[in-house]
Amino acid sequence: MTGGGSSLPEMQRLLAVLAAGKRCAETGSAFGEGALAIASTAASLVTVESDPERAAVARERLRQASNVELLVGDWRELLPQRGPFELLFFDAGRLAEFPDAIDLLAPGGLLVKDDLTPVRAVDGDAVRELLFRDPRLLAVEVLTTPTTAAVIAARRTSGPR
Ligand SMILES: C[S@@+](CC[C@H](N)C(=O)[O-])C[C@H]1O[C@@H](n2cnc3c(N)ncnc32)[C@H](O)[C@@H]1O
Repeated sequence: MTGGGSSLPEMQRLLAVLAAGKRCAETGSAFGEGALAIASTAASLVTVESDPERAAVARERLRQASNVELLVGDWRELLPQRGPFELLFFDAGRLAEFPDAIDLLAPGGLLVKDDLTPVRAVDGDAVRELLFRDPRLLAVEVLTTPTTAAVIAARRTSGPR
């Protein structure tokens, strides 16, 4: 598990665009900044934070967002019973260690992973190997700033064509 901070403003903008009208989830609410961006356009958001003090800050930040459910605990225990989701912002630790996160996606659903170093080779990069090589996913890398990247992966509705 990572301590981590808040997502970048550029990433929050991207999340708001991708979340529009969707049933969304976030692993790792931290202080609620990413969640607030998602909630600004989403149909609904379930966000989970394991640190109670961070969750309290997030709850205050999100108190006027009626489409948000903030849960305190481990996303691995709390999210499976709430899914599937049309957008999952994975922001709690190393995604490559938790490939079950893909099971949370509805067909066509988007998995978003940020905080990546741009233009790394897929081979040898555990998170890119998972997102670009899993046959259930179709992934693309985007620059979020000149020095940071995100990968957006859609869960296929059928096998690769
Ligand atoms: C990078 S921060 C999240 C930033 C936030 N998503 C944002 O955009 O502002 C990562 C957070 O994940 C939380 N975390 C780590 N492992 C977790 C787990 N298994 N379940 C829930 N939260 C977890 C950490 O406590 C930390 O606050």
